[in-house]
Amino acid sequence: MHEGFLGTAAPRYADLILLLELTMGLGLLFGAFLAGIRKFRAHAWCQSVIVLMNAASIVLFMLPSFRSHVSPRIPLKLGKSFYALAAAHAALGTVVECAALYILLAAGTTLMPEKVRLVRYRLWMRTVLAAWWVVILLGVATYARWYIPNLFRR
Ligand code: HEM
Repeated sequence: MHEGFLGTAAPRYADLILLLELTMGLGLLFGAFLAGIRKFRAHAWCQSVIVLMNAASIVLFMLPSFRSHVSPRIPLKLGKSFYALAAAHAALGTVVECAALYILLAAGTTLMPEKVRLVRYRLWMRTVLAAWWVVILLGVATYARWYIPNLFRR
């Protein structure tokens, strides 16, 4: 496996996901700012591109890693932080990505039947943004536990 560039024991793809995900998280905060200054078209574009890029990064990198490293050890090893962090991250991450895709469909298209379109956009968007950052922090914790030796056992 190729060595990473952040100086930890992580392979290159993991360093890439880490940087990509942090950048996307900051991008979402910037997108929220765009909504704040009433640039709603730019806001919609910014958030949509990030949510879709994130879906790609889940399907291409995180899901395969989860299937080979984590799911075979569930539930037997869930007591260990190595697996517990990754499992919590993946569970909340799944909910958050689905909620984000739902917001895109409900706010940006007329594909959804009238009844399930959003009324309280702001509350939904703020909640998902906050939960998204919790997922990023759980991802960073997973990275730290997996690739920075002895961090949790000193
Ligand atoms: C909003 C959604 C998500 C965000 C923002 C996010 C963010 C992150 C971040 C920052 C990392 C650390 C980089 C790394 O260790 O490679 C990470 C790693 C990881 N994520 Fe996610 N993630 C999301 C969704 C998911 C989902 C849905 C799953 C699984 C079903 C998942 C499974 C994993 C796994 C297994 C790792 C460790 C990858 C490895 O290093 O091999 N994530 N994620």
